[in-house]
Amino acid sequence: MRQIIITILIISSIFSSTAQKQEHVFGSKDNLMPGGVYYYPEAWKKEQWARDIRKMKELGFEFVHMGEFAWAKMEPKEGQFDFGWLDFCVNECQKNGLMVVLCTPTPCPPSWLTAKHPEVFVVNEEGRAWQHGTRLAVSYTHPVYLQYVNKIIDQLASRYGKNPTVIGWQLDNEPHYGPLYDYSAHSEQRFVEWLKLKYKDNLDSLNYHWASMFWSVDVNDWSHVKLPNRKTNSLDASPHAMLDYQLFNAEELAKGLRHQANRLRKGIDPKQWITTNFAYNKFLPSVDPFLNKGDLDFASHTMYLTNTYLNYAKDKLAFRLGSGMEISFAQELTESISGQTGIMELQPGQINWGAYNAQPYPGAVRMWVWHSFGMGEKFACTYRYRQPLVGGEQYHNGIMETDGITVARGGKEFVQALQEIKSLKKINPKPSPDLESRRTAFLWKMGNLMDMENGKHTQQWNSWQHFFTYYENLKTMGCPVTFWQENDVFNPKTHPFLVAPAYQLMDYKLVAKLKQYVEAGGNLVLSVRSGQKNPSGHLWEGPLQAPILDLIGANIKYVDQLPPGISGKISFDGKSHDWTVWADVLELQNQPKYGQKAEVWGSHEDQFFAGNPALVHRKIGSGTVTYVGAWSNEQDLERLVLRKLYEKSGAKILNNPRYVFTDYRDGYWVTVNYTSVPVQSPIPPNGKIVFGKKEVGPGEVCVWTE
Ligand code: GAL
Repeated sequence: MRQIIITILIISSIFSSTAQKQEHVFGSKDNLMPGGVYYYPEAWKKEQWARDIRKMKELGFEFVHMGEFAWAKMEPKEGQFDFGWLDFCVNECQKNGLMVVLCTPTPCPPSWLTAKHPEVFVVNEEGRAWQHGTRLAVSYTHPVYLQYVNKIIDQLASRYGKNPTVIGWQLDNEPHYGPLYDYSAHSEQRFVEWLKLKYKDNLDSLNYHWASMFWSVDVNDWSHVKLPNRKTNSLDASPHAMLDYQLFNAEELAKGLRHQANRLRKGIDPKQWITTNFAYNKFLPSVDPFLNKGDLDFASHTMYLTNTYLNYAKDKLAFRLGSGMEISFAQELTESISGQTGIMELQPGQINWGAYNAQPYPGAVRMWVWHSFGMGEKFACTYRYRQPLVGGEQYHNGIMETDGITVARGGKEFVQALQEIKSLKKINPKPSPDLESRRTAFLWKMGNLMDMENGKHTQQWNSWQHFFTYYENLKTMGCPVTFWQENDVFNPKTHPFLVAPAYQLMDYKLVAKLKQYVEAGGNLVLSVRSGQKNPSGHLWEGPLQAPILDLIGANIKYVDQLPPGISGKISFDGKSHDWTVWADVLELQNQPKYGQKAEVWGSHEDQFFAGNPALVHRKIGSGTVTYVGAWSNEQDLERLVLRKLYEKSGAKILNNPRYVFTDYRDGYWVTVNYTSVPVQSPIPPNGKIVFGKKEVGPGEVCVWTE
């Protein structure tokens, strides 16, 4: 009995502290998405601090984000700390009723530290150690660096860890290594330790998994292991060694963050939360944010929608409206880590680091804030308050113009959206049944991305674009998407659909779990490359994609790729679809081991394999499996296949054009338009418009309730 009471007490204290944390960060019920703003007092005259902070309040912000790069200011000499400037600003925030988010300043160790300990620098692929003068240049787990990290974290925790104005902490900044991978001696030594653990101290096992007989790259002693490096080795020698190194590198970053989180948590009030602002995964394939799931209260993320490296609509205003698809992907992926997220950096205008940096279209900044709201962000923090006059980000817009006192065009839109959101009167959350019928999971593993990018097989392969083909089409149907990891519970009741595009690395355990999901009523969609290799990146000694064949009810006879500019054709429901990058040639299993015989949904119309199936669908238990053995050039085949499947399964789906999003949160529906033409929002007859009109122009928003 005593045991039970203790357990109940522990559980309820965990819940109440989570609830308190949520209240703190996530605003009140009348303000569903508080706005925050980045401020770097260290960059401005101290006479301006109070004025600036007052203005932030006046503009409607709720919290101020400070300190992420200011280590040199906080500890100007070893062991001598100066927090007077930060105390002043935190006090000003408190006086003005603003909350504060503080950061560990670890991306930028001071020069006295790196001069004394140059061994903490990361080394790039070319073997050059990074130097003082930039951020993200040190090894996250270097023991010497960590000693100093501990000291600065302890100082911050003892000074602000009980301050009620400080609601939470961000660890580091967009955690990653500047050169992406760390080739330092420290990293090499840790890699060998990691390998010894993974391969149980058995060099033969390492050589086997790395395929070392090929080109005789065997290592005879652990001391001979080198960090796999594209500049000095051919990747062809062992893609398996490279995959191990990339997985290791991601774990190192996660360990560095875990170290910081544990240290900080010891000294702060449990009401203060801990997060980090993961950068958009597409740019940092060396980071796996899911590895820190248990270390953070929640993961947050950053996003710059008009940067030129994103996937836009192809039409004329697209570069000014930004990539709605990629912010949506980033939001849903980060939210999936612990069930909630906030956007920590959202641009208020022009940025400085794209290939070119266009002005956002009038209305676009407001639309991004509303889109963030619709997607369920728990807060929206803008990067940054003032446009810097000096330094590397000189041309980056802030909420304020360069004079520091005039609100910029984008700044006005940002605060307008915050005000509009504050003006909402909360409707009792009513989860929409339509939404539940189309809720979709997306199976996600960093190793797949790493391995496919290491060995594309055709230079035209682009893993991200393949994932987006599915993601974007799901969003046209208004599907809320949760990213699942292999060890999550695959529940068809909460997520009747599970898509796993190009899920290359699989084992039989995962396939058994997928089968169970399907038997219990789930609808699984797999695409090309799925199950092609085992988790070490080896092909199977058996038929192609061996583990999934019994699941899809077909064999994959061979795969094909065409040169750029040439396309093959696949027929699906009476329409022809072009493909170039990848297609599989299938044959049905006449007597599948389980489930019903597969139906052919699509076939090759041409090439020497005309008439063979390319797309199959079948029932197993109460669910279905669909295998899309092609990647269509216009991504329209995938759209039609998904629509057919969802409709057949009785899901209620929308029919938005690509780059138009309709999301639901807390009783509100939000449609945003990233295309260059007006669109109609899918308001049902009983819908009541709160903002905007049914017709939504480019960069406009329509908000309604049911
Ligand atoms: C982010 C970064 C910020 C700032 C910003 C500029 O990726 O986290 O510190 O550099 O870009 O757009």
